[in-house]
Amino acid sequence: MRLSSANINIIIKACRKAIKPLIRDFGEIEKLQVSVKGPGDFVTASDKKVEKILIDELSKARPNYSILSEEIGEIKNDEEFKWIIDPIDGTSNFLHGIPHFAISIGLEQKKEIICGIVYDPIKDEMFIAEKGNGSYLNNQRMRVSARQKLKDCLIVTGGPKISSTSHKKILSEYKSFSTNVITPIRKMGSAALDMAYVAAGRFDGFWQRDLNYWDIAAGIILVKEAGGFVTDFNGEDKFIESKTILVTNSRINKEMIEILK
Ligand code: IPD
Ligand code: CA
Ligand code: CA
Repeated sequence: MRLSSANINIIIKACRKAIKPLIRDFGEIEKLQVSVKGPGDFVTASDKKVEKILIDELSKARPNYSILSEEIGEIKNDEEFKWIIDPIDGTSNFLHGIPHFAISIGLEQKKEIICGIVYDPIKDEMFIAEKGNGSYLNNQRMRVSARQKLKDCLIVTGGPKISSTSHKKILSEYKSFSTNVITPIRKMGSAALDMAYVAAGRFDGFWQRDLNYWDIAAGIILVKEAGGFVTDFNGEDKFIESKTILVTNSRINKEMIEILK
């Protein structure tokens, strides 16, 4: 089975168009990053190019929908529907020639995400979900993992940014996980893919502070439709306002909250 509603087809088409220059630019960066000068502004240019293609395609198909996109900000239109776009999530990886980054697009209806895509162009992995219709990885249904104890789990986190005021808190959370339960923790550098990997059962949980809506919008629906939990650090649903997100399979949510407290 696969998802095939009109909105799903629109986001897939937009992504397929945008990944062409993205893959080309990544090939250039792989060459540039070994040069003394490095890729410099090349990355910002790529980000903007991808964003423009996505916005052009999405607005052509849905001229009335509003848009929130990382580089250009808000385009206000119809209040009911809004595309939430991160043209490249995992910019540092992209900049260093590391093939782990993705396009992320979520669609909000009346403040709720109803479908989303996280598309890793290098591994050609398309994570896609729609409310009520499930989560898929390249047409295969995804489910979160069934691991019950944190000590058996593999979890992922991101940050802290050097400028972050939460720097100390983040380091102490990291320490709690490592010392209390000795859970292996990964840092992969793309929050959108971190969430997609929880949806696919590759990781069992993910937590992070200081994330923006465009980092997580598509991930929210991917995880929920795969049977996982998306909350803030208190187990409530204020993760957008608080910018603190906890994503888990359905078994380890409580145990992770205890440690984050
Ligand atoms: C970043 C990535 C990273 C996370 C940062 C985000 P960007 O997004 O998702 O994993 O730790 O907080 O800002 O800048 O690559 O789009
Ligand atoms: Ca991002
Ligand atoms: Ca970005």
